[in-house]
Amino acid sequence: VKFGGLNMEDEQLASFNRIVITACGTSWHSGLIGEYMLEEIARVPVDVEYASEFRYRNPCVDEKTLVLAISQSGETADTLAAMREGKRRGATVMGLVNAVGSTIARESDFGIYLHAGPEIGVASTKAFTSQVCALTLFTILMARLRTMSILQGREILHAMTQLPDQIEQVLELNDAIRELARTYKDTANFLYLGRGANFPSALEGALKLKEISYIHAEGYPAAEMKHGPIALIDQNMPVVVVATRDSVYSKVLSNVEEVKARRARVLATVNDGDSDVARLADHVIEVPETDDMLTPILSVV
Ligand code: F6R
Repeated sequence: VKFGGLNMEDEQLASFNRIVITACGTSWHSGLIGEYMLEEIARVPVDVEYASEFRYRNPCVDEKTLVLAISQSGETADTLAAMREGKRRGATVMGLVNAVGSTIARESDFGIYLHAGPEIGVASTKAFTSQVCALTLFTILMARLRTMSILQGREILHAMTQLPDQIEQVLELNDAIRELARTYKDTANFLYLGRGANFPSALEGALKLKEISYIHAEGYPAAEMKHGPIALIDQNMPVVVVATRDSVYSKVLSNVEEVKARRARVLATVNDGDSDVARLADHVIEVPETDDMLTPILSVV
């Protein structure tokens, strides 16, 4: 993997002993996926911090830390302040930014531009999918400097090349999803559940529902549901579950069983041809199968 804006020697990139990702909102959600990928594949310790918290804390950051600031606009005040705080403490700052020439892009030591084009609507959508793609590429770069084999790298890259066609397939579900939206348009509350790389997808789904439909929604790691939110689950609380066939599929399946036992209606995002979750769910949205770490891209679309 080669990035145009990453003017840094391999030795320097390999020398960081920790990455702190800082961002807000949707960009924070993609950062969380970045954490899962970087730790799983590149074996680098990663923390993901809300920029608004990071800037007012006393974070353990030094010159061996890479601070990764993620922002679509490149102008979010909290993210900017967090990266400046990281710099002040001696960290190197990398920007993952969409808007060319924005303040975060200019103040970063080096960076990656998303080149996703302008976000026209309020909701950050293509920025999210582009951020996850760029984070995947950055993970491959870091992993190849460490322990990952060239074959594993190629497998992930091959899966990435399938994404445009797979996204087209998901977009073909538009009419069916519109019907689903009509069915649930008067619902006041939703719960979104997911595990692994799709826990951030659940957070992102809930954020988008709040932001665009003005419907209250919460995202949770699916297993955390039983530690409180389960009290709210009944026939009036539809539950959106991301249950793609990845390494935590069987775990999510048992979470769906728990939700159904409480008589909630379940809307599940599954992989094509799924029968186990589909048997329990009231509605399914079928998306194509991809690499575990890339599933959030298809489920979020
Ligand atoms: C969600 C949304 C916000 C932004 C957040 C960060 O759809 O638009 O949550 O993601 O304000 O903005 P950027 O990425 O521009 O720093």
